[in-house]
Amino acid sequence: MRFTDFGSRFREPTGIAVLMEDLASLAGSTNDIMMLGGGNPGKIDAVIDSYRQAAQALIDDHQQFFSSVGRYGEPVGNQRLISALVNLFNERYDWGLSDTNIALTNGSQNAFFLLFNMLAGTAEGTYRRILLPMTPEYIGYRDVAIGDNFFVSRKPLIEETGNHRFKYRIDLDAITIDGDIGALCVSRPTNPTGNVITDDEFDTLDKMALEAGVPLIIDGAYGEPFPDIIHRKVRLKWHPNIILSLSLSKLGLPALRTGILIAAPEVIQVISRMNAVTNLTPGSFGPSLISPLFENGDILTLSQQHIRPFYARKAKRTLQWIDDSFAELPVYAHEAEGAIFLWLWFRDLPITTQELYERLKARGVIVVPGHYFFPGLNIDWQHCHECIRISYAMEDHVVENGIAIIVEEVKKAYNKL
Ligand SMILES: Cc1ncc(COP(=O)(O)O)c(C=O)c1O
Repeated sequence: MRFTDFGSRFREPTGIAVLMEDLASLAGSTNDIMMLGGGNPGKIDAVIDSYRQAAQALIDDHQQFFSSVGRYGEPVGNQRLISALVNLFNERYDWGLSDTNIALTNGSQNAFFLLFNMLAGTAEGTYRRILLPMTPEYIGYRDVAIGDNFFVSRKPLIEETGNHRFKYRIDLDAITIDGDIGALCVSRPTNPTGNVITDDEFDTLDKMALEAGVPLIIDGAYGEPFPDIIHRKVRLKWHPNIILSLSLSKLGLPALRTGILIAAPEVIQVISRMNAVTNLTPGSFGPSLISPLFENGDILTLSQQHIRPFYARKAKRTLQWIDDSFAELPVYAHEAEGAIFLWLWFRDLPITTQELYERLKARGVIVVPGHYFFPGLNIDWQHCHECIRISYAMEDHVVENGIAIIVEEVKKAYNKL
């Protein structure tokens, strides 16, 4: 069959497609697969029980249940959840939001497809790009662009922060926002590294974006105020030049496919119309189920009392296993400041981490090799082939057994076994 350029792009496996296909094909596997590759949230029983109760209440209410499954919602998204979000943000941050500042999408991945193509691509005889001020960045951004050559990005500065630890910092001196930049985007906390850009870095990007007259997109899929998987104190900021993207997924609800955008009304209006064209309306079952927990503030309590502590404990344990195993090798872990991943850097590893990925997969351990996480960085940088992302969200025994095999394979690769 003859496909367009757009269609043909999906004949080739993209990074995120490989990841999702690995996840799906291995999910039902009877073999002992240690899935440290995907972005699935952890199973936190107390949190799941709260959602079950909310689902039960929805099912027991004939009228509410009917309207959540039997009627198309509005293109901008479920009004009850939008109003609950407006109240929650205004009470907590005093941002002065109204309903015109929020739209829902079918997951935040879908929001990025809409947003990036809204802000970059051909415009007024030029070609605009999305600037990622620092890579590594989220693998899912890579292929959402309709056009080619869509991202411009920068190498980070690498700061050694302690024994076998490092932190990436934005190389602010390397950033200029020229006329071909349509928007800046940064995930905070960052997937894959667990980095949380500092308030100073945030303020500087905010100022640069304002001066250049382009929006700053903050991807808060793991951030404040929910699920709040951030282990250091930072400030969240919003004003109409910032587009804040949030999601229900890392609260433990990825299957509900609900993303949230907070932005200036002109952005929200376009997103709403794009929703109408591409989806008619975003799904309303998830928002109907979860709205009561936003209205009574339970979602914040769950985030603070269960979700954040769950990941903090798992990050600590996983780092301990890594530190105990790699003390003699040039292996560094990025500071685990947030999200659900560890980013490991095997300095001067004699093989690429793609090769390491293959060797691990053959032994039933799935990780993600680092080179996928540098969209728009068109330089040859060895560092991209020396890192992997591992998720520590799964059950402890899965993570521990997976790490043990990673340790063996890495030691073999360094000829230290
Ligand atoms: C940083 C980041 N942004 C966005 C997404 C998309 O998530 P969803 O579409 O489930 O909201 C993910 C998923 O893992 C992510 O890690």
